[in-house]
Amino acid sequence: MDLMNRTVLIIGGGSGVGLGVARVCLSRGARVVLAGRTPAKLERALAALQVGERARAVAADVSREADVVGLFEQAADVEHVVVTAAELAYQPIRDFDVEAARRATDSKLLGALLVAKHAARRLRAGGSVTFTSGVASDRPLVRGAWVAALNGGLNSFVRGAALELAPIRVNALSPGWVDSELWDAVGVDKAPLFAAMAERLPVGRIGTPDDLGHAAAFLMENEFTTGAVLTVDGGHRFV
Ligand SMILES: NC(=O)c1ccc[n+]([C@@H]2O[C@H](COP(=O)([O-])OP(=O)(O)OC[C@H]3O[C@@H](n4cnc5c(N)ncnc54)[C@H](OP(=O)(O)O)[C@@H]3O)[C@@H](O)[C@H]2O)c1
Repeated sequence: MDLMNRTVLIIGGGSGVGLGVARVCLSRGARVVLAGRTPAKLERALAALQVGERARAVAADVSREADVVGLFEQAADVEHVVVTAAELAYQPIRDFDVEAARRATDSKLLGALLVAKHAARRLRAGGSVTFTSGVASDRPLVRGAWVAALNGGLNSFVRGAALELAPIRVNALSPGWVDSELWDAVGVDKAPLFAAMAERLPVGRIGTPDDLGHAAAFLMENEFTTGAVLTVDGGHRFV
């Protein structure tokens, strides 16, 4: 199944990996619906994509069930869903702000449950849902233990969801480091960190949103892939 004339809903599509997924889907002839909480960010993304009516945006918070229901109502023709939305918390365990941990859990894990629940009611056979976990499940940053737990939980969730939602396919994409707004929440000076990591990685560079978009397109198009965690990390797990 190729993406030509398919509609792809990208929750988190206003920036970073989600915007990369949108670019790759559009390059393959799909229509995209971008979702996120901040209308101005979505408008900026639409302006950057420059594809007219082939891309539109809907404001929604993936951790609120009413928003997820509304999203599927407004994107009634959707065939594939990709979720990159996450509001992450990087903090030392000893001082962790529990409300920040709850928000992270709601956006990344509860949000996945809500999307799976309502996608199951809306998508046709042949459709797919792709969630985004991350290299932290194997290689956590210091102060990133909760992010590691959420990514690991999501990897486990897709295995069960793939069984329950069949014939809809459910997978996870697990990125390595990608330059995006997410790093603002990590609270590090990312330029030297990225340069040092690029030197260690077998591929010699960190990832781009389009690297991940390409992998998400594979998960949408490949009809024999479900319950998979596709690692796209430039070899990060082994260095
Ligand atoms: N970048 C990396 O190095 C990296 C590495 C491993 C894994 N990942 C994973 O890749 C995914 C995407 O990250 P990214 O790098 O693309 O970060 P990003 O640029 O911050 O993108 C996340 C997007 O999700 C949206 N979002 C956040 N919370 C939301 C919510 N509750 N409901 C709806 N939308 C929400 C954000 O927009 P609003 O704030 O406007 O809602 C934003 O556009 C995340 O799951 C992250 O854990 C990233």
